Amino acid sequence: MSTITRPSRAPDATGWDVERIRQDFPALHQQVHGKPLVYLDNAATTQKPQVVLDALADYYTSSNANVHRGVHYLSSRATDLFEEARAKVARFIGAAEPREVIFTRNATEGVNLVAQAWGRANIREGDEILISSIEHHSNIVPWYLLCGEKGATLRVIPMFDNGELDLEAFGQLLSARTRLVAISALSNALGTVTPLPEIIRAARAAGALVLVDGAQAAYHMPVDVRALDCDFFVLTGHKLYGPTGIGALYGKAALLEAMPPWMGGGDMIASVTFERCTWNVIPNKFEAGTPDISGAIGLGVAADYVSGIGMDRIQAYEQELLAYGTDALNQVDGLRLVGTAPRKASILSFVMEGIHPHDLGTIVDREGVAIRTGQHCAQPVMDRLGIPATARASLAMYNTREEIDALVAALRKARKVFG
Ligand SMILES: Cc1ncc(COP(=O)(O)O)c(C=O)c1O
Repeated sequence: MSTITRPSRAPDATGWDVERIRQDFPALHQQVHGKPLVYLDNAATTQKPQVVLDALADYYTSSNANVHRGVHYLSSRATDLFEEARAKVARFIGAAEPREVIFTRNATEGVNLVAQAWGRANIREGDEILISSIEHHSNIVPWYLLCGEKGATLRVIPMFDNGELDLEAFGQLLSARTRLVAISALSNALGTVTPLPEIIRAARAAGALVLVDGAQAAYHMPVDVRALDCDFFVLTGHKLYGPTGIGALYGKAALLEAMPPWMGGGDMIASVTFERCTWNVIPNKFEAGTPDISGAIGLGVAADYVSGIGMDRIQAYEQELLAYGTDALNQVDGLRLVGTAPRKASILSFVMEGIHPHDLGTIVDREGVAIRTGQHCAQPVMDRLGIPATARASLAMYNTREEIDALVAALRKARKVFG
């Protein structure tokens, strides 16, 4: 890896020091194809700060042991670190107690856990589950499977052409049959921020539970699950500047306690005979087998890292960057932004006349600019808009205006190549 030092930028008027933040992320300081890396694929995964990398190395260097199982020193140290990480994640999302946080592999596993454990016990023929048209596949397919198994119906809140949800239609879809509303806080394909307080209030009034897919929202905006009053909330560590292979599911304690387990194995039981098994208390009931101990520790460190910077400050900076990026991209000939809802965060999805998004992605990569192209695991969004794919630049707190300028220059170059 060849490294590069960019010209330093002074802190802005609010004291936001992007250069200081960039110094925390070693992966940002490299060249690709002989050009400084411009990493704009943050919705897929973010880069990792040194504190997270150090936490992983420290754990394996000096604290590695299995958790919840040993009486020896290292095992109790690993257990303490693991449980401290749970408390950090609980604090980060505003959960009342750490036991309301279940460690999962990712957001996808969190949704599947609820669909399997809560859904199998509670969904019956004729019930309805309500999702929205801007969901990621991971908040569609688990419900599709559950509905198929139970004879329930999957209903979908429609969206307008700009990516905003049709709340009037939502009101009409809600009924006494609606058992659960499963909704993303922020669309990865379009950047739409959904009006969660209104949606949750209406769902509650109809007697439905609410699961929030916070995979994208968790690293772009402050989250407070108690203020939101959602029943479940999922997040994924690798987007929140943490490691891959770790995520978290928040559930209200009473709901989690009432739910049967999902996966069986070690740690999730209170007692096992061949005739009868009984279950451990939450959160252990939902954490069968050896967990991703280092991943959980890394996620806790990542949550503390962003909290230390301030999620409200991160949100304010990214909003300013999004406005700059929106203006800049609107000035590129033949480019059309896809997803222009009034409330958006950090996603710039677009198509360019006469150039397939995959070709665009390949050309800008040669300029060192990493963007995503395709359906972004949101095929129904593409189908609804009648397009096969988009190119997507997704921002994080370490991105800069100069990087957006580099994207624009690369897109203009692509335009020239395709005449
Ligand atoms: C909105 C949204 N939900 C869920 C997911 C799934 O995350 P993971 O693959 O880490 O489970 C993603 C990932 O892109 C996402 O953007």
